[in-house]
Amino acid sequence: MLKKMVLNINNVDRMITFDPEDTLANTLRKLGLTGTKVGCEAGQCGICSVILNGKVIRSCVKKMDKVPENSLVTTIEGVGTPGHLHPLQLSWMVHGGAQCGICTPGFIVSAKGLLDTNPDPTREEVRDWFQKHRNACRCTGYKPQVDSVMDAARVLRGEISMDDLAFKLPEGQTLYNTKSPKPTALAKVTGLCDYGADINMKLPDGVLHLGLAHARISHANLLSVDTSEAEKMPGVYRVLTARDIEGTNRVNGLTFSPTNKSDGLERALLADTKICQYGDVLAIVAADTEAHARAAADAVKAEYEPLYAYMNGLEAVAEDAVEIHPGTPNLYCEMPCIKGGETGGIMEKAAHVVEGGFYVQRQPHLVLEPDVGLAYPDADGGFVVQCKHQFLQAVPLMVADAVGIEPDRIRMILNPAGGSFGSKMSPITEALLLAAVKATGKPVCLHMDYAQQSFFSGKRSTGFFNCRLAADEKGYLQAMEYDFLFDHGAYHDGTSDPLIEKGFRWCGAGLYIPNIRGVGRICASNHAWGTAFRAFGSPQSYMASESLADMLAEKIGMDPLEFRYINTYRPGTTMTSGCEMDVHPFPTLIDMMRPKYKAALERARKEDTPEKRRGVGISLGMYDCSFAAHDTAEIDVELNSDGSITHYSGWHDMGQGADAGAMALAHKAFEPLGLKPENIRLVMNDTAITPFTGAAAGSRSHYMAGKATIDGANKLMDAMRKPDGTYRTYQEMVDENIPVKYRGNASTVGYSEACDYNTMQGDPNPTHTYGVFMSEVEVDAATGKTKVLKMTLTADFGVIGNKLAVDGQVYGGLAQGVGLALSEDFVDPSRDVTLKAQGFPYIKDVPDDIEVEYLETPRPSGPFGSAGCAELSLTSPHVSIVNAIYNATGVRIFELPATPDKVLDGIKALERGEKLPVHEWYYLGSEMNEKLEELRSNPVVGPAH
Ligand code: FES
Ligand code: FES
Repeated sequence: MLKKMVLNINNVDRMITFDPEDTLANTLRKLGLTGTKVGCEAGQCGICSVILNGKVIRSCVKKMDKVPENSLVTTIEGVGTPGHLHPLQLSWMVHGGAQCGICTPGFIVSAKGLLDTNPDPTREEVRDWFQKHRNACRCTGYKPQVDSVMDAARVLRGEISMDDLAFKLPEGQTLYNTKSPKPTALAKVTGLCDYGADINMKLPDGVLHLGLAHARISHANLLSVDTSEAEKMPGVYRVLTARDIEGTNRVNGLTFSPTNKSDGLERALLADTKICQYGDVLAIVAADTEAHARAAADAVKAEYEPLYAYMNGLEAVAEDAVEIHPGTPNLYCEMPCIKGGETGGIMEKAAHVVEGGFYVQRQPHLVLEPDVGLAYPDADGGFVVQCKHQFLQAVPLMVADAVGIEPDRIRMILNPAGGSFGSKMSPITEALLLAAVKATGKPVCLHMDYAQQSFFSGKRSTGFFNCRLAADEKGYLQAMEYDFLFDHGAYHDGTSDPLIEKGFRWCGAGLYIPNIRGVGRICASNHAWGTAFRAFGSPQSYMASESLADMLAEKIGMDPLEFRYINTYRPGTTMTSGCEMDVHPFPTLIDMMRPKYKAALERARKEDTPEKRRGVGISLGMYDCSFAAHDTAEIDVELNSDGSITHYSGWHDMGQGADAGAMALAHKAFEPLGLKPENIRLVMNDTAITPFTGAAAGSRSHYMAGKATIDGANKLMDAMRKPDGTYRTYQEMVDENIPVKYRGNASTVGYSEACDYNTMQGDPNPTHTYGVFMSEVEVDAATGKTKVLKMTLTADFGVIGNKLAVDGQVYGGLAQGVGLALSEDFVDPSRDVTLKAQGFPYIKDVPDDIEVEYLETPRPSGPFGSAGCAELSLTSPHVSIVNAIYNATGVRIFELPATPDKVLDGIKALERGEKLPVHEWYYLGSEMNEKLEELRSNPVVGPAH
């Protein structure tokens, strides 16, 4: 049944015809107002916020039959337009309020609702408002949004002008090292940026919609899949099962280490013989509408022989566990770390030794945009995939055999992306699209809902870390031993054995430890597959070493900051993998932190009460800037006929600011030409026209793309340069037959050396980023609930390319650190499928008081002295929170997240006069020393897979 009514939308009366059961969000979007985004569809994220009759509401949960006739509706399109920006929109641009931007329209509409009623709010009132309206953001850490509202309010009150607020590039300067807004900001703040879901709903007729039939069991033998009912459902064009896949149906999970006992080919694209994790895909339905596709997918039936589900790596590596992937041991990769001399004797004789077992949970990425993609045949007999992905070029390599399409017939294009943080290193959505477009020969699109997005996406692998640290009487570290296990879930995803390498590098990083012995292991389980996540491999590692650093300092009787100061890297010291660093910023970063730390301790001392315990915690973190050793990147630059430059790159933009980085780098690299920013055009992320710039991973993009940009710019400017030092015009180049397009290359060869798999010693990354984290917390003694009051970071990313982007990366990573420390987890894949259930941090969970101070030590090998940025802020902020909880209460958290019940149990035990035990080492399938001896006596030779 349909209805019609008149709504006043953005000050215009419009007669609309609608389904009363549909939501206001969908109805507005069907009117073309796709600035109203849809994410959770459950009233939990606020990206669909509109103003209805003066009130901010979440339009995804507002049924049309509850919207009165003649209602006044304001969407982002009614707030302002590119030619007539509202102060909120301009303020959002200059404060970096839009990173991925998927939340931006909802936030701005919500903020307008606030300023319409309260023109002079305090920061806390702004935060209260966004909390009340559930305006969620995963990228920014919320501080930029509050800054944006405060400045927009000043404009609206007439205290400053729009011109005062706008970014202005000082005459004669390049964009490099400024706070210039990102090129895509205007589209994002006006709601005109089309993300995957917007693109899909604007497609021509004839596109098939895909529905996925998922297994609702975590481990089973698959006996049969029955699609007969689904095939008869309305609108169904085709139902595909494993039998219909024309390739091998095996996704290549890319293993690298010769010690990996798996070939990485365990994953069936469509389940054929086994179900290895909840949500495995049984069938793809292609139908005329999304609703029909979903309904038919629900009608697919399967018969199973249920098997015991190993939902925890410790169970999966037990001796009696059956192989999840028959023929491959669950514990499929083990490696040793051998640095310096033997540690056993040192541990026995050292003046001070501490040890413990630490666990970091399966952190969900919690991006607000559910996964969406589109695929269609192209004119040359190939296929085009438009999607969100952090490494477009890897997709064909990983899925081509599975779907039976040669890699060079697959063209990958990146859609504007609503955040990723590592979640879109997986090629599975893209493989499903390719299988469907090949089988049907028609354009197909796929739109996951938030539940699917939650159970059918990779997660941060859980880490069980046993670790022991020894120091001499003066507090200098002598040795470390560890034995760790990553539970990588059901599948490889290209991130399994590289994760062990990360564990070796980051456990103990920042501290000079001359002697290290350890074993790193990785296993399969039946939980969600492990994948990349910001600061990949380091939060688990630092949880062990930075907790133990505090424990050791206490045992020695030293201040934890000073303990780190005497032990951190200086010239002549080596890091965990035995290499020296190119720069040594840690001592200065600690010096910068010291006065802030002393002030924080004083605040905590003064404000601590028996009911509200205050504490301060410190941690060190560092991360690399390249994609392992021997990283490469390319960009192209072209002189255009009007004298402008086109910069072509495959710098994947998930919202982190690839556009801002590419623009700033190009502007700086072409500085001799005196170009204005508007004379530089960016072409990004289409494998048919942009070169290989590599993955958005490992804080590598700015470093690698920057070096390639400088190389390309120099080549072009060398070609343009006349003998008198002036530059040829485009016409002069053409007249003299000089090419106008050049490829810039970058490589870490000569700056890096791969780790030896027998010792994990090497120098795989040319440079690193560094940070000292400090958290100030308040713990409610009655409930055990922790509130983070303030976070401080002193950090060194080298010379900063775009300060707005780096600020944003820092704030966002710190907020994710709060979530990691206190609330986020993915425990039950059948249940934990909403933002709330997975512990999403809202604005009031994250401190507004975030202080960041940069040291900009130029990197000798970096572009214009820069390193990278994205990972550092999530390396170890959670450990500073855990250390602060200990400082506040005396309760040490060994297993994250530090939920109120865990903290309260400790507080109560202490009140009873009990001594809290140190969490013992996990048993990981064999004893560390035996395993270490076994690995040492069987050295591996030969190349990686
Ligand atoms: Fe509406 Fe999340 S609150 S999409
Ligand atoms: Fe807020 Fe990405 S900018 S979710």
